[in-house]
Amino acid sequence: MAATTLSDTIPTDDARPRVVLGVSGGIAAYKACTLLRILTETGHDVRVVPTRAALEFVGAPTWAALSGHPVSASTWDDVHEVPHVRLGQRADLVVVAPATADLLARAAHGLADDLLTNVLLTARCPVLLAPAMHTEMWQHPATQANVALLRSRGVVVLDPASGRLTGADTGPGRLPEPEAIAAAAVRLLARGGADVGDLAGLRVVVSAGGTREPLDPVRYLGNRSSGKQGFALAGAAAARGAHVRLVAANTVLPLPGGVEVTAVGTALELRTAMLAAAGDADVVVMAAAVADFRPAQVAEHKIKKTDDPDDTPVVRLVRNPDILAELVAGRRPGQVVVGFAAETGDESADVLTHARRKLARKGCDLLVVNDVSGGQVFGQEHNAVTVLDAAGGAVPVPLSTKEAVADAVWDAVRHRLDTGAADDDAADGDVDVM
Ligand code: C5P
Repeated sequence: MAATTLSDTIPTDDARPRVVLGVSGGIAAYKACTLLRILTETGHDVRVVPTRAALEFVGAPTWAALSGHPVSASTWDDVHEVPHVRLGQRADLVVVAPATADLLARAAHGLADDLLTNVLLTARCPVLLAPAMHTEMWQHPATQANVALLRSRGVVVLDPASGRLTGADTGPGRLPEPEAIAAAAVRLLARGGADVGDLAGLRVVVSAGGTREPLDPVRYLGNRSSGKQGFALAGAAAARGAHVRLVAANTVLPLPGGVEVTAVGTALELRTAMLAAAGDADVVVMAAAVADFRPAQVAEHKIKKTDDPDDTPVVRLVRNPDILAELVAGRRPGQVVVGFAAETGDESADVLTHARRKLARKGCDLLVVNDVSGGQVFGQEHNAVTVLDAAGGAVPVPLSTKEAVADAVWDAVRHRLDTGAADDDAADGDVDVM
């Protein structure tokens, strides 16, 4: 039986997307094992191409076992199969995680001194780089210039996460979580790179999750929002090049890559964070489920039950501010504000009619409407929405992943930024629901 070679022919009936996972020599290489696992388990055919330095951290047998393919860092193995050209040519997507400062420099300047850099030069598919390095290296003008050069060529370079680095150091430079890199990879495959960098240079703020309004030190009034849709919005914006601040209320989800996060608990905390972040933002998205009411008083101590069965405390509620309305009122010229609305139809009007009225009442530019008649949206992986535009447009997004919904929302934002309020002038004040 012939030995399996590095560039063994992939069966023609294998319809799985072909991903090359490049791994360069940083300690975060160990996290690429999880990324590889996620990608293979979600139906991708993954070939791992490590650099020599990456193999100092994680050995070739690990990559081979997890990917089911032979592994080499060198252009000198199986030369008759021309792997330095074929792997890149055949790929549907190249992901490099971690991408070290050295790898970024070599990629930016077109060097081809190992198999991975050859793959990067021959690939004609989308390329996603997930940098990881010490803060000083990431912030060095040389690295920043290399990143800018790569981005200008359409390469998607995630911003590193902030947090614990090797040793005692902390700061920007951490590899984003494998789940976040996988999500960015999947959306790049699905969208074919058409929107790469189309939000570059924009500052966006996204709220996500559900607020909790304390009753006493241990109890709160909350809601069932998981934050998945808001996280998908933040992740998609970052993948499309935006600078993203995510204001997350009580979420337990893995953080999307390249996103700055402010954690909040209550509606009032969310309001403070959103108003501060919106000051210099180009786009503000209110995807969080904000409690309309909060207890008028928060008991200092846990509310105790007494022996009297008729002693049932009454909780008085007060209104929370409508943060979306405040954001709309204080928005700066050209800023696009997006609201969400969970709606149900009733005898008086259907879901979209109610939603159109809400869009007009709230004064936002776009309203993402969820039909929650069956309560089926919360915590689910899929969502079906309609994106209403103040100019009268309505884009239905059929049941899709929350990531696909997120991209549809950003498409609408991009359109809105391109056409501005001009469309609104053209729209009739009393717009028909489409
Ligand atoms: O009026 P309704 O709660 O349906 O509006 C939903 C939209 O308003 C969402 O974008 C939500 O984030 C926002 N909202 C808010 N402040 C509140 C309640 C809702 O910003 N107090």
